[in-house]
Amino acid sequence: MTIPSTQNVAVVESVMRELTRLRPLPAVVMQAFHLLADPQVNINRVGQVLTADQVIAAQILRHANSAYYGGRTPCTTVADGIVRIGIRQVKSVLYSAAASQMLSVSQMKNDLFRHSQVVAAVARRLATLLHRADPEEAFTAGLLHDIGKLLLDRHARPHYRAMAELIRQGYSLIRVEEKFLGTDHATIGGLIAERWQFPRVLVEAIRYHHAPTLSYQPQLPALVVYADHFVLQAGIGLTPLGIPPLPPDTLQILGFKPERADFLAQIIQPEIELANDQFEDTIGSR
Ligand SMILES: [Fe+2]
Ligand SMILES: [Fe+2]
Repeated sequence: MTIPSTQNVAVVESVMRELTRLRPLPAVVMQAFHLLADPQVNINRVGQVLTADQVIAAQILRHANSAYYGGRTPCTTVADGIVRIGIRQVKSVLYSAAASQMLSVSQMKNDLFRHSQVVAAVARRLATLLHRADPEEAFTAGLLHDIGKLLLDRHARPHYRAMAELIRQGYSLIRVEEKFLGTDHATIGGLIAERWQFPRVLVEAIRYHHAPTLSYQPQLPALVVYADHFVLQAGIGLTPLGIPPLPPDTLQILGFKPERADFLAQIIQPEIELANDQFEDTIGSR
């Protein structure tokens, strides 16, 4: 069967309009990213900037005073919190804030938020196990990998049945989206990440998470799509489109032998359950 080519110019135009209307990241977050990019960063200054955002300030303090870093005197200022948890962890908090801003405007937020949180946790675990990417970067990339779906899904929904049929036949999700909608969620996600001035490694991890070989640094997108695959197989974030095939070369990029996949799945399964339970707790406590 040949894939129908709909050349859906209307969808692309509509998505591009939404993209230009997308709010920039909060000034506080942008300013903090800017300061943190400086190797000689002044932590007190970052602390001052982030104190202006109550949600972010509270999250940093919550992390810093969590059991993971526990057993010491409580942190009461954001600057102390940053010193305790480290700059990488602070960046993860900032990226999470960016993701939740994006998700707050979406109707599909709970399903996608759950999927993203679990993929993030699994990507971090895979990074630690396979030594192919920085664990915190893997977490962030996992958290944001599908943000493009927020703009695209509304347009995809009427085509779900026909798209699912092609995915069942083994076509990649990207190819199918492109044919029906004229663009795909990874490309749109990459554009959002660029608009938010994310670092290139992260933009590419989002843009190429269904085609890692196209990235200048293929390990991170490969890791994300492998995590994505595990999480979809566990039924978290499944849409009527089903589970798209893993991009070819994913395991090769990760230097991982396919016969060890079952062994890896056993290690990953508890991580999926834990992250899913944590998501339930967050939702329940809202
Ligand atoms: Fe995706
Ligand atoms: Fe995904």
